[in-house]
Amino acid sequence: MIDEVLAEVSATADAAMAEIADCMDVASLDAVVARHRSKKGGLSAIKSRLGGLAEVDDRKRAGAAVNEAMGRLDAAVEQRREVLADAAISARIASETMDLTEWRRPTHRGHLHLVTQAWERLEDVFVGLGFTVAEGPEVETDWHNFEALNMSEGHPARGEFDTLFVDHVPPGGTVGSTVLRTHTSPVQIRTMLESAPPIYVIAPGRVFRRDTPDATHMPVFHQIEGLVIDRGISMADLAGTIEAFTKAFFGAGFSSRLRPSYFPFTEPSAEFDIRRPDGSWLELGGCGMVHPEVLRAGGIDPEEWSGFAFGFGIDRMAVMRHSVADIRDMYSNDIRFIEQF
Ligand code: DAH
Repeated sequence: MIDEVLAEVSATADAAMAEIADCMDVASLDAVVARHRSKKGGLSAIKSRLGGLAEVDDRKRAGAAVNEAMGRLDAAVEQRREVLADAAISARIASETMDLTEWRRPTHRGHLHLVTQAWERLEDVFVGLGFTVAEGPEVETDWHNFEALNMSEGHPARGEFDTLFVDHVPPGGTVGSTVLRTHTSPVQIRTMLESAPPIYVIAPGRVFRRDTPDATHMPVFHQIEGLVIDRGISMADLAGTIEAFTKAFFGAGFSSRLRPSYFPFTEPSAEFDIRRPDGSWLELGGCGMVHPEVLRAGGIDPEEWSGFAFGFGIDRMAVMRHSVADIRDMYSNDIRFIEQF
């Protein structure tokens, strides 16, 4: 009799264990638990019948077996409950995940103007060589633009500049003493007046000349000026700086040379050319040792300090770099031209 009861306990427990393992959600697990705890079914029902066993020992053994089986089922239920809770959370996370990616027309970001690109690269290279960037106004006084640069009234070099005059007479000035700057060289004067040497600056900027636009000229264009003032600066420092710049900007295969020339604000003066890897030469800009009169105009004693300056066109650099055939194309805003770069 006892053996049959024990077998029933273990069979009932095994069946219940299987049912628990099969439960896929908390509700069905609760239903299994309720069924097994009810007096009518499962182990509880067996337990309530144990009083029918004649032997005290048998009742004890059977009771212990039922209790042990119930404990096992309770543990299995708890374990299953945890598994189902974890699964429920994972399922909920998966179902509530939001797709935040949005479909958009691929944006076309465009790019900086070719001259702006050249301007920024030039700044990068010179800043890398230890220069800082200086600025000056585009509307300039005749004094800064010419006079202080050793071009007093009547100097023949003034005629070459095709100056645009501004209809503004400053206090104490005369008609024609305000101009659109014809070059970035007046920034030399402003920098010298504003800061004490040593000076190592570059000044990129917009300049203006009364020119009819053609394939190589625009009335509005861009230059970059360089000015170094320090003790014991010589022509060798100028040549070395131009060479270092050439290699940094154009590449190791390029080199530079200075050719004697004339500018009112430098003495001696030179033009500098760069040599392309194929051996051809390209004229780039002007340079020289800052004229003592220019140093004086900038409030600097030429007995104590010396320096060099250089200047060249930025638009030409952009034209060269991208092999633009007509400089006007860079300003016509034709999208078919712009999109090539
Ligand atoms: N300012 C000159 C021009 O516009 C270029 C130039 C020549 C600048 C010699 C300089 C220099 O600083 O030393 O044509």
